[in-house]
Amino acid sequence: MPYTFTRSQALFERAARSIAGGVNSGIRKMEAPVPLYFAKGSGANLWDVDGNHYLDFQLGQGALLYGHAPAGMADAIAAQAKLGTHWAAQCELEIEVAERIQKMIPAAELVRFSNSATEVVLTAFRLARAHTGRKLILRFEGHYHGWADEGLVGFANPMDKWGDDENPARLHPSKGVIPEVLEQFVVARWNDPEHLRRMVDRYRGQIAAIIFEPVLCNTCCLEPVEGLMSTIRELCDRDGMLMISDETITGFRFGASCAQGYYGYRPDLTVLGKAVGGGTPFAALAGTKAAFAKILSGEVIHAGTLNANPLCLAASKWSLDEVLAQGASHPANLKRLGQRLMDGLVALGREHGVPLRPQGPGLVFHAVTLKPGVAEGPIKDYRDYVRRHDAPRWAHLRRCLLEEGVRAIERGLWSISFAHDEGQIDAALKRATIAFRRHSATWQAPA
Ligand SMILES: Cc1ncc(COP(=O)(O)O)c(C=O)c1O
Repeated sequence: MPYTFTRSQALFERAARSIAGGVNSGIRKMEAPVPLYFAKGSGANLWDVDGNHYLDFQLGQGALLYGHAPAGMADAIAAQAKLGTHWAAQCELEIEVAERIQKMIPAAELVRFSNSATEVVLTAFRLARAHTGRKLILRFEGHYHGWADEGLVGFANPMDKWGDDENPARLHPSKGVIPEVLEQFVVARWNDPEHLRRMVDRYRGQIAAIIFEPVLCNTCCLEPVEGLMSTIRELCDRDGMLMISDETITGFRFGASCAQGYYGYRPDLTVLGKAVGGGTPFAALAGTKAAFAKILSGEVIHAGTLNANPLCLAASKWSLDEVLAQGASHPANLKRLGQRLMDGLVALGREHGVPLRPQGPGLVFHAVTLKPGVAEGPIKDYRDYVRRHDAPRWAHLRRCLLEEGVRAIERGLWSISFAHDEGQIDAALKRATIAFRRHSATWQAPA
């Protein structure tokens, strides 16, 4: 029998009377049929308040590279909690974490800690503007850099307002932002190095930095095309711009040296979130000494009461040691497991007439469901994704999967953790078989 969510429904109705909108992050409202309430997690397993068990590929929006509630991390946090939960001052742990990041990421000559990647992105922009004396940041369509005014320009542009391919619109999906924020950005299409060159040339001398998700995980898990990273590096070096790699999702997931090691490029600044804190509110800016110069000189302010909180540092130190302990098997192991899951989902799609085309390098991937009649072949950018991905169909399939105990991120992203193994991948595929059958039997395209 498909799962039911009676208790989650009741809690959500209760929450709506005290919590604005019933949730504490807008995106959580996307979960259908109702935002779920969880009771317990362990490894790759998750249980909700209705007693439903899930094999989890949502993994705290990708933060839980180590699975749910790893015992070692719980012990590390508990031990620290007994010594102090918050000092707003220095402790040796913060040096230990910083030294680990230095050791793992060659471009991390220095670091600064914050509570969220949203804040880290803002720090990076401030540094880049101070470094260059310029105001513009170049970013790419469909990339997500946090929910602040400056993080969301060009993120989810509606199709009727895209602008032509050479002039992507500068739009913001939220009301209430500072109107002038749109003028601080240049929006380019992803995965087109020649278009990027033209955009940089058009604004030459005005751009402080280029920021990007090295794998566009927030739209369809699009890996960079050959030559894109080297083009960004070359343009940044040529024009004195900073290269900002937003590794909030890819950081440590793609190996100890992150996506920059995996794809072989060296940014000036790196945004680290999610896995660096193992699921605690912790994030880091890493970068070269030159890029940090304006913080070193005291001209750029970066502050925060809870920055480098010792509980988060304890979780981070444990997490980074866990990544280091994987040695050469990481990320190959995660890739192999992810590929097994992708292959299994494709086979189920074929069997049940579902045009599912998972895309991505395996350790993280996106479940594309093609619209009827569109071309086959890999999706290449945000526009291509919106044109070819059947979002309502994926939402229906995702709900069927959820009701059979397989949980992916609402918008279609799947992540693998160190806690997954072949047995769990196969168990998820077994559950998915029923979900695909139900989906095929009940899916009706909107009229
Ligand atoms: C690439 C990227 N950058 C920045 C952020 C913002 O991170 P946070 O939610 O920790 O503020 C996210 C969050 O998902 C992200 O995926």
